[in-house]
Amino acid sequence: MARILVTRRLPDGGLDPLAGQGHDIVGPNDDDAPYSQGELRSFARDCDAIVSLLTDWIDDDVLAAGAEGGRLRVVANVAVGYDNIDVRAATAHGITVCNTPGVLDETTADTAFLLILAASRLGTAAGADVRSGAWKGWGITQYLGRDVHGATLGIVGYGRIGRAVARRAAGFAMPVLHHARRPTNEPGYVADLDELLAQADIVSLHTPGGAETHHLIDARRLALMKPTAVLVNTARGTVVDELALAEALHAGRLFAAGLDVYEREPIIEPRLLEAPRTVLLPHIGSASQATRTRMATMATSAVATVLAGGTPPNVVTPA
Ligand code: DGY
Repeated sequence: MARILVTRRLPDGGLDPLAGQGHDIVGPNDDDAPYSQGELRSFARDCDAIVSLLTDWIDDDVLAAGAEGGRLRVVANVAVGYDNIDVRAATAHGITVCNTPGVLDETTADTAFLLILAASRLGTAAGADVRSGAWKGWGITQYLGRDVHGATLGIVGYGRIGRAVARRAAGFAMPVLHHARRPTNEPGYVADLDELLAQADIVSLHTPGGAETHHLIDARRLALMKPTAVLVNTARGTVVDELALAEALHAGRLFAAGLDVYEREPIIEPRLLEAPRTVLLPHIGSASQATRTRMATMATSAVATVLAGGTPPNVVTPA
């Protein structure tokens, strides 16, 4: 029988793959608050597995505590991104790390398109005026957004989610450019990110988080974008310099932005909260009932597989 920490509440059915095996499941907190680093370290010391969420920092200290305890074999992150886990340290300690690739691509691409449309067409500001009573009736010069159909879409990071966004763009007759770290040899590939930013009318970010992409979109790169351009981020907040983006929006050097992720979630740069033409969502990229359930069962299946001595398909170690 294994002891498994589940750090946060999972959608109904998320624990099914672990049911009936006699495991001792601990967590989450009654109020679903994330555990502190101290609590994670102490659980890691006497657990065989951790089912983590992207709000848990599974750093070297937590993993070292797991290694010291001599039981921790697997950390399964209920997310495709795993920048909250020190995968290198996990590798060094012989702890398997798993994620949930594939099951959230279409849902996250839907969210990217929601932001593309809402930001380009000023959906949030216009909707807020309806609710507040500020809208006094139709006017031909009101709420003039940018057309999405026919606009050139620049996709940064051309993995499964980036490609799912590209498929949607075909329905809007959008020419699609893409940039990736390695040449894709596919039509629309632009090797130089600066060039893609200068050409695109709408830029959608789909890179992983982490040190390599930290502030990939900084003040210099924002200045390369057209003043009529729209920036959408459903990847990780750290990919964009939030303050630089806020300043570009305030100064009218960028038309609009649609964001689902932030540098220091749940804290949001105050200048961004005040920025015009900005659609802000609370990290709901994969938040459909079906997808979140699939993510949870994928992670808990991976735990069940590792505990049974097998290797799940979704392993990200060794780093
Ligand atoms: C992920 O999976 O990495 C998303 O950010 C949450 O769905």
